[in-house]
Amino acid sequence: MINLKTQVGIIGAGPAGLTLALWLKKQGISSVIIEHRSREYVEARVRAGLLEQNTVDIMTDLGVAVRLKKEGQEHHGVYLSFNGDRIRVPFGELTGGRNITIYGQQEVVKDLTNEWLRGGETLLFEAPAIKIANIDTDSPEIHFEHQGELGRIDCDFVAACDGFHGIGRKSMPSGSYKEFSVTYPYSWLGILANVAPSSEELIYAYHERGFALHSLRSDKISRLYIQVDNDDREENWTDEMIWDELAIRLGTKDWELKRGPIFEKSITPMRSYFIDNMQSGRLFLAGDAAHIVPPTGGKGLNLAIADVKHLVDGFSDYYLHQSKEKLDHYSEIALKRIWRAQDFSNFMTTLFHKSDAHGSFTYQLQKAKFDYIKSSKAYATMIAENYVGLPF
Ligand code: FAD
Ligand code: PHB
Repeated sequence: MINLKTQVGIIGAGPAGLTLALWLKKQGISSVIIEHRSREYVEARVRAGLLEQNTVDIMTDLGVAVRLKKEGQEHHGVYLSFNGDRIRVPFGELTGGRNITIYGQQEVVKDLTNEWLRGGETLLFEAPAIKIANIDTDSPEIHFEHQGELGRIDCDFVAACDGFHGIGRKSMPSGSYKEFSVTYPYSWLGILANVAPSSEELIYAYHERGFALHSLRSDKISRLYIQVDNDDREENWTDEMIWDELAIRLGTKDWELKRGPIFEKSITPMRSYFIDNMQSGRLFLAGDAAHIVPPTGGKGLNLAIADVKHLVDGFSDYYLHQSKEKLDHYSEIALKRIWRAQDFSNFMTTLFHKSDAHGSFTYQLQKAKFDYIKSSKAYATMIAENYVGLPF
């Protein structure tokens, strides 16, 4: 039996769990992390790429932004396209100088993991949590398995940063929260390709054949997505078919899409999900454990880091000022930002995806919104300030 003792027991070594651990350490609060998967698996998992200004600032304060500053690409605007009509929304002048940075989530996770382990701290990989116990007492426990052995973390608080499929949310007492869920009638086929990006900034495109997004990872790697049906499969798409479709959907008169070898292909469903209470007794949920947004606004990872900020505020207040006030209101505070992000992600998703026949009522509303972005600085500002992330 492995027995660990700490102040905050953390489940999950994704962006939320790792950031929480490092930030608590900075405040002099101890924690240990257990992670279901292997280090190789977690560090290779291809996901997000868009970091809000807030997220970059937090990484900088935690001293884990050296590589991010060197290899990440700061973007000062974004392109929006509607059936080949492309406009640019500049962030600088609309948000008072806030920006986004493109840097792969797995690179963030690598940097955070290295920093945590470099400090000699505990992080057990291949250690799934199997039960969270005694959350209504002052000494909750996390039970886990590791290399065929059972283990237990005795702690003051449990932070479940274990993603959408973890046990954190399932360990909340039944009836302690209400669930909200929307499944969209489309998915994203995402690719990574060994080819220089065809645009220096992201392009979100509505096209009568469906949504497309041009993103990137570096000067040599492009990241692109197209809308596909929910029952579609990667095998249905040859590389040539994907490039042809991207060229049509992203295309404008005087722009050409560069093509190259595709080395990653996967399909992600679009979903909005959240619960209206993220804590019970001494159990706290953060990140995807409590909410999912469709990736069209690039908000998921950033929301996870925002939850962590509010959780650190609560734990710091508890340990440094003996006050439970902020912890007691954690959910309420975090949910304000979550609702905002849900709304913006839904707005971007429904604006750019094809959900109804070309020319239909839905289409006309999409077109009216796009035309309004073109003509109204106020509307463009709404998009810019939500996209770069509202300040705390
Ligand atoms: P996760 O990253 O899911 O981490 C949870 C961890 O807990 C995992 O490592 C998991 O293995 C572990 N775990 C689960 N169960 C257990 C258990 N029982 N015991 C121990 N460990 C456990 N977000 C953005 O902000 N910008 C984007 O551009 C963006 N693009 C995206 C594109 C795609 C294709 C996808 C799929 C997602 C995208 N997201 C984006 C969303 C973003 O990736 C997630 O919101 C983010 O990973 C959430 O971090 P997290 O730490 O809460 O959860
Ligand atoms: C990405 O680069 O993977 C990315 C960027 C913006 C999004 C979603 C994904 O909205």
